[in-house]
Amino acid sequence: MKIGIFGAGHMGSAMIKGWIRSGEIAPPDIFVQGGKRGTAQSLQQDLHFTLSNNMTDFKNTDIIFLAVGTPVILPILTDLYTELAGKVIPIISVSAGVSVKAMQEITGDTYPIAQAIPNTPVQINEGMTGIVYPDNLSEEHKNLMTTSLELLGELVEITEDKIGIFGTLAGCGPAFVDVFMESLADGAVLNGMDRDMAYHVAAKMVSSSANLLLKSKKHPGELKDGVTSPGGTTIKGITALEKEGFRYATINAIDTIMKS
Ligand SMILES: NC(=O)c1ccc[n+]([C@@H]2O[C@H](COP(=O)([O-])OP(=O)(O)OC[C@H]3O[C@@H](n4cnc5c(N)ncnc54)[C@H](OP(=O)(O)O)[C@@H]3O)[C@@H](O)[C@H]2O)c1
Repeated sequence: MKIGIFGAGHMGSAMIKGWIRSGEIAPPDIFVQGGKRGTAQSLQQDLHFTLSNNMTDFKNTDIIFLAVGTPVILPILTDLYTELAGKVIPIISVSAGVSVKAMQEITGDTYPIAQAIPNTPVQINEGMTGIVYPDNLSEEHKNLMTTSLELLGELVEITEDKIGIFGTLAGCGPAFVDVFMESLADGAVLNGMDRDMAYHVAAKMVSSSANLLLKSKKHPGELKDGVTSPGGTTIKGITALEKEGFRYATINAIDTIMKS
């Protein structure tokens, strides 16, 4: 599969790294066009993808991604659609801010163009990506969309009205967990643990707890109950967290983003 992508910033580079890491896409089969700051050029030195400075290269790809800032999506799509000159190549935008309908105002409402929200763990093929498929999508084009994104981790279909909350939970969530892991490690360092060991233990504990939740399919409260013995240390720690409004702070973080 030949993949074209506009934008090699935080999200574009994470996706490129994931495709290369998957072993299924050869670096030269990824055609990348970057912006004025030269981010794509710098990354190319390490990743050896094909750097493109024209739209024509994209006519030879099987699928094209738009991983640029929201204000640039529609201008690039307009130029790209003109360059494709009737050739139909599926396109996926990863911007939360531009709907399928807005993009189809440029391409027409039968063009295979989707909106997807990946998150940064795509770079290690453990992403959680939501996708809004357009109506009237052929099986062939849907397969290209799903195959290219499933190389980066799990893919779920979502409806357009859920794209905001999906992006907040899956896209912003990694930063919340990063702050949580850093804080856990700070608490451990405060109590004498070596810094590197503290980060490693915190990260492994978070990832294994998440895996237990996914694999056991138990309610998180049930898993918590299994760690909290009566009068024990864990329930004392949870009480300290709740005294500081841990649950409210977390719920409010999601809600604040949704209301912003
Ligand atoms: N970051 C996330 O976790 C995340 C999650 C889900 C979705 N997204 C979406 O992904 C998109 C990109 O976000 P980001 O965080 O990766 O932003 P970013 O780090 O600022 O990257 C945007 C990239 O677009 C490039 N660019 C600008 N104009 C261009 C053009 N005309 N042609 C080609 N490339 C161009 C820039 O290149 P130069 O640096 O060379 O100028 C820059 O590297 C946004 O729409 C965002 O909503 C991001």
